[in-house]
Amino acid sequence: MTTQESFSGANVLVTGGLGFIGSHIARRMARLGANVTLVDSLIPEYGGNTFNIEGIRDKVTVSITDVRDQHAMTYLIKGKDYLFNLAGQTSHFDSMLDPKTDLDINAGAQLSILEACRQHNRNVRIVFASTRQLYGRPQYLPVDEKHPIQPVDVNGINKLAGEWYHLLYNNVYGIRASALRLTNTFGPGMRVKDARQTFLGIWIKNLIEGSPVQVFGDGSQLRDFNFVDDVVDAMLEAATNPAAQGEVFNLGSTEVVSLKDLAETLVRLNGAGTFEIVPFPKERKVIDIGDYYSDFTKIKSKLGWLPKIALHDGLSRTLSFYKQHGEHYWT
Ligand SMILES: NC(=O)c1ccc[n+]([C@@H]2O[C@H](COP(=O)([O-])OP(=O)(O)OC[C@H]3O[C@@H](n4cnc5c(N)ncnc54)[C@H](O)[C@@H]3O)[C@@H](O)[C@H]2O)c1
Repeated sequence: MTTQESFSGANVLVTGGLGFIGSHIARRMARLGANVTLVDSLIPEYGGNTFNIEGIRDKVTVSITDVRDQHAMTYLIKGKDYLFNLAGQTSHFDSMLDPKTDLDINAGAQLSILEACRQHNRNVRIVFASTRQLYGRPQYLPVDEKHPIQPVDVNGINKLAGEWYHLLYNNVYGIRASALRLTNTFGPGMRVKDARQTFLGIWIKNLIEGSPVQVFGDGSQLRDFNFVDDVVDAMLEAATNPAAQGEVFNLGSTEVVSLKDLAETLVRLNGAGTFEIVPFPKERKVIDIGDYYSDFTKIKSKLGWLPKIALHDGLSRTLSFYKQHGEHYWT
């Protein structure tokens, strides 16, 4: 059976399913003929947006549920073949202002979801959306999975706990789980009204609205980016390939860019706009990770995953999406 065929008729649960990446998984699952249930709390500060499932609303079941609600999650997990576990508090900055909420969602709720699986559905296959943030400031580049773990913010610590609960339940209880450490992911549907999810979101909104893009620092910081379709491919492969079980994988890109070059590219693709280099706000500088890009050799060799969408193409597609649909995302 191919990766795609595995999902035809399968019962799939996506937590964070109205969010950016979760809704792209939902779209793919609907196309592949899965019975999809999306769980999302729609907390306004997070990335959930009902417009993200425009066009597939009648093909998915939506449950407005908080993953911290253990009883509801127990009910929802029963009978599912796959769980794409993406619900999360994503803002590094907010995790410093409200560390307990970050702990409850990114660690506590993950543990209770896994407990629900242990007690009611040990056959489910899980993919957890982890993050490169848990490496902290790189000691060497590119960062591979053996790099020391040194989170620089509360979010990185809680995501690490969430990730390791998944690995533990895989190793101890045989609940098939894997984790992907995502790097900057972008594309249609990402949160653009502020920088809570990614700075790229607010850059795109500012450009389209004619305000200057602000690049913090000196603009030389290096980053790698994945277009969301590539991330969805990786998640589907991790869900179905037995070689993924109990493993963590970095995602990444062969294209590494400085933030200044990224801003220049965006302005050019947009055909208008400006950017300015501004000093790092102090409270953001202390949790900045400096240069980062991933070594993704492991997922390439074990699962055969490679990013396919060039940065330039992904940015063009994202800009045109927000030029057309921005009104659903601006406020
Ligand atoms: N986008 C990236 O660049 C990136 C990078 C690294 C890791 N990740 C991880 O990928 C996952 C998805 O990220 P995203 O970019 O799609 O962000 P997102 O904010 O768009 O999606 C997360 C979704 O989870 C929902 N959610 C949050 N708390 C919830 C709760 N308590 N109960 C139910 N739903 C809740 C939100 O409403 C949102 O729709 C997150 O776990 C994030 O940590 C994303």
